[in-house]
Amino acid sequence: MIWHPTPTERRAHASLKWSTSPENVLPLWVADIDCAPPGCVTQTINHALAHGIFGYGEEPKGFRDTWVQHLKTHHGWIIDPDWIVPIPGVVPGMRFSLMASPQVRHVLTPTPAYPYFKIIPSIENRVEHLIQLNPVGEVMETSIEVIEDRLKAIKEPAAILWCNPQNPGGTVYSEDFIRGLVKLAENYNALLVSDEIWADLILDEKQHIPCGLVAPDDQPTITLMAATKTFNIAGFACAIAIIPDHNTKQRFLATQTAMPNVTPLAYAVTASCLTDGWSWHESLLKALRSNRQIVMDWAVCHPEMTVLTGHSTFLAWIESHGCTGLFERFLGHGVRLSPGAPFGSETAVRLNFGCSPATLTEALNRLDSAL
Ligand SMILES: Cc1ncc(COP(=O)(O)O)c(C=O)c1O
Repeated sequence: MIWHPTPTERRAHASLKWSTSPENVLPLWVADIDCAPPGCVTQTINHALAHGIFGYGEEPKGFRDTWVQHLKTHHGWIIDPDWIVPIPGVVPGMRFSLMASPQVRHVLTPTPAYPYFKIIPSIENRVEHLIQLNPVGEVMETSIEVIEDRLKAIKEPAAILWCNPQNPGGTVYSEDFIRGLVKLAENYNALLVSDEIWADLILDEKQHIPCGLVAPDDQPTITLMAATKTFNIAGFACAIAIIPDHNTKQRFLATQTAMPNVTPLAYAVTASCLTDGWSWHESLLKALRSNRQIVMDWAVCHPEMTVLTGHSTFLAWIESHGCTGLFERFLGHGVRLSPGAPFGSETAVRLNFGCSPATLTEALNRLDSAL
């Protein structure tokens, strides 16, 4: 894995991150990173090009097996391939989960969180209950007791929509916490939907615990995963929902006409990465750890802010404690971060450190001038 030496070239390739940012601005916002994916991706695309016909596709043979194998080796979770529903993205999967559960009136979500955790319950007309996460060391956490108090007060069917690991904040939840969450969902008869898109970008000696691993197979649990963050292939829309409970899965399947199918190329690229991308991935983790250290060193010089660099993801959360307009101020000094408001904090910004150390250092210098 090598950082792209001239990432500004991405501006010419309809990149959401680069092409929508002014020329003089370094974009460290949306969650993709400035490097090419594993070499197997180019091989897969070349193979498809050599054939040259792009009609309707079907799920390729062996696609589920690559996930089954991956979950077994990396997460110790042995699943039945029949539990898998391929979907064109984790965000659509979150929405399908609520569309498939019209009986659910209330949705508990963490805050701050990736904006769709608030957007989806709202567009699906459910009552939102935000669970505040608070800084603990390099991450953000809450307790099972806090979530239980909220669930107790709700007298109608509910769902918990959780982000595991957490974006932003990079929390890798402990096994005790995940077991507690699953037990709560069971005790209060709540649907548990777990967005685990960051499960394979763990930067420290921590074990990711999939919710579905500790939940009984007949409990309504939907675990959403993808290879898109892991291998920097977000342009190939492909994810999976893992749903052991038969009735929950049947209802979820019935929503599937709301989106196009996963494309043949997205299936093939995903499967190739899950099979052949792991040495690339090892070098990515190394590069991200080193970049995270650059952010941590910078944070030491800014004790007035809380900078959470997390145990997973490539996203640092910068909470200024009372200073609004941080996003605009940084943009005015040539750095585009993600504004904190859509995540749940007007006084924070999110920084994507998935770029070359040179770009990162230049961006942090600009933040210094802004501050
Ligand atoms: C927590 C989380 N869920 C989902 C997504 C996007 O998923 P998809 O592109 O598969 O819809 C992101 C992207 O950054 C994310 O951080």
